Amino acid sequence: MTSTPPPTFEVRWLAVGDEALAARAMHDVLDDEPRGLEDGWLTDPRVHFVVALVEGAPVGVAYGHTLPLPDGRIEMLLYSLDVIEAYRRLGMGRALVTAFLERTRALGFDELWVLTDPDNEAGNATYRSVGPPSSHETSVMYTWDASPPPPGAAAEG
Ligand SMILES: CC(C)(COP(=O)(O)OP(=O)(O)OC[C@H]1O[C@@H](n2cnc3c(N)ncnc32)[C@H](O)[C@@H]1OP(=O)(O)O)[C@@H](O)C(=O)NCCC(=O)NCCS
Repeated sequence: MTSTPPPTFEVRWLAVGDEALAARAMHDVLDDEPRGLEDGWLTDPRVHFVVALVEGAPVGVAYGHTLPLPDGRIEMLLYSLDVIEAYRRLGMGRALVTAFLERTRALGFDELWVLTDPDNEAGNATYRSVGPPSSHETSVMYTWDASPPPPGAAAEG
């Protein structure tokens, strides 16, 4: 019996000029059509965006942001990590997080951090597989909607 070998993949950092590939990655992997890409999001030096490509097509995405702190330290937040379902368990998630850790070190930043749900088995397994973290804690996240109310909506409060 012959089995199909797993697809080989390339990890590629995106930069200015890669907006079309970034938009395709957002659409194909995250099912998102972010307006920010047209507005220069990728030109912001605090934005870091890496993709996993199979035969040139994006199947995995990780993006994050530089966070300058008042004490002069700089941290990297890995904000989003996703791999298309059909391409999971092939090492792409780990490769994308590893790329983030390597970039964080190469840029001389102090720390890379990421949030995930304690119940997210795949997310937790992926982050653990990158290597032992310097710390690991369970936090509670609070979020407030700060977008302006739609025109005509009754004011609350
Ligand atoms: C999390 C996610 C990105 C992992 O991507 P992936 O390409 O499948 O991960 P990898 O193949 O690189 O796996 C890395 C490690 O995690 C393990 N792992 C991955 N998915 C797992 C699962 N569902 N259950 C248990 N272990 C899992 C792998 O076995 C591997 O461990 P190993 O090195 O000990 O073999 C993917 O499952 C995903 O996109 N999930 C939805 C979005 C999400 O939850 N994002 C992360 C949280 S913010």
